[in-house]
Amino acid sequence: MSQATRDAILQQVRQTLEARLALSDQIPQLAEDVCRILERTVPWYDWVGIYLVEGDELVLAAWSGPAATEHVRIPIGQGICGAAAREGQTIIVPDVRQDSRYLQCFLSTRSEIVVPIRQDEDVIGEIDIDSDELAAFDEKDRALLEWLASELAERLPHHRASAA
Ligand code: SME
Repeated sequence: MSQATRDAILQQVRQTLEARLALSDQIPQLAEDVCRILERTVPWYDWVGIYLVEGDELVLAAWSGPAATEHVRIPIGQGICGAAAREGQTIIVPDVRQDSRYLQCFLSTRSEIVVPIRQDEDVIGEIDIDSDELAAFDEKDRALLEWLASELAERLPHHRASAA
């Protein structure tokens, strides 16, 4: 797939997400719709999930893909998901077979991106996407998903009152 085609797909999915975000803020329906839009619109997004932080675990809140994952609760610090939550930074893994942190869900997965959903300094959840292509994710995926994470952060219940 050419870079121009990839860019056009990401632009299209952003417009679809903007329209959905404008419709209603009701979680969990919004989380489910966002997962479905991403997975069905972007061919290299093979499994899309949203995890929310509960205590010291990530709990799967919504997902879209060909199969359910067994990893519905992930301790913060475990897996790529747990590492991204602990660090509060997006992690792109171009080849999951080369990353010792990787927790396998699907045999077909080759690469993964995990984008934290943050309210101020607190990680309250994350967007996790698996791809069956090697090195499927680039800076444009990161930009789209970090924008989406900030939109979701505004709509999720506040994790805790500001310290101020
Ligand atoms: N691969 C993830 C676990 C979640 S599944 O991809 C849905 C990880 O390493 O944390």
